[in-house]
Amino acid sequence: MDITDYKIIVTGGASGMGAATVRAYVAAGAHVVSMDVNTDGEAIAAAAAEQGPGTASFMKVDIADKASVDAAFDEAVTKLGDLDAVAHPAAIQRPGDAASVTVEDWDLMFAVDVRGTMLVNQAAHRHMAGQHRGSIINFGSVSGLRPEPVAPAYSAAKGAVHSWTRTAAAAWGKDGVRVNAILPAIATPMYDTAIGRLDEEGRAAHFWQNEHSIALGQKYGDADRDLGPVMIFLASEASRFITGQLLPVDGGQTSVR
Ligand SMILES: NC(=O)c1ccc[n+]([C@@H]2O[C@H](COP(=O)([O-])OP(=O)(O)OC[C@H]3O[C@@H](n4cnc5c(N)ncnc54)[C@H](O)[C@@H]3O)[C@@H](O)[C@H]2O)c1
Repeated sequence: MDITDYKIIVTGGASGMGAATVRAYVAAGAHVVSMDVNTDGEAIAAAAAEQGPGTASFMKVDIADKASVDAAFDEAVTKLGDLDAVAHPAAIQRPGDAASVTVEDWDLMFAVDVRGTMLVNQAAHRHMAGQHRGSIINFGSVSGLRPEPVAPAYSAAKGAVHSWTRTAAAAWGKDGVRVNAILPAIATPMYDTAIGRLDEEGRAAHFWQNEHSIALGQKYGDADRDLGPVMIFLASEASRFITGQLLPVDGGQTSVR
């Protein structure tokens, strides 16, 4: 579980689980480059670095754009000197309805969540394969395993992230590169936004579909306390024989229902 002096890139570092992952890695002694399209990530990286003992810096990146991802990864790896792990929580979610989901929403979610995962993973693999070692941690969702009537494009996109994670794990095992995906149920701004869109009836339905089956307390977890240690485990050598897995960090939501 020791990640002291590990060199790690974290996407989505401006918010929610990405921000918590930056804090967890720096507190465990790693050197982190945080990437996000939202420059709030700058202050989060600076606050984590101030706490130490690791270090953190920030780069603005659009994960849907190949040139942006490739340039940022090249610059980050030059700065870090190596690349041990990439944590990739960055994503977007938009609500919808299967009968009326728009082409624009569909394409946007597939560009950011699916193409973004492919681009981030390819850039990571490009730097890791030569050293025959590395861990890539994607973010799927229970929404990609079950029907999600209120977010059909997001559900389809996360299903694609699951398939991609397994395919990349199968392809890159020979290079010593592991690829897994976390399926979280964690309270973050994305969760707050999704809940905030609902009326009273919608919230009740959300509770019965989501919180009710969280065996550990019937509420979403805390990013620092409940996810941070798992991110350290998956980046570290402690998980060296684990790849291609979809790992729920959800208090039991996915399997206890
Ligand atoms: N919150 C949950 O319970 C939950 C449940 C299932 C899955 N997930 C998944 O977990 C991951 C983390 O979610 P979160 O709740 O922390 O989300 P969040 O909205 O709090 O943070 C997502 C971050 O991604 C960044 N981002 C969005 N588009 C980007 C782009 N094009 N380029 C770079 N950065 C971009 C945002 O600016 C934001 O900082 C996501 O993949 C999400 O789909 C979350």
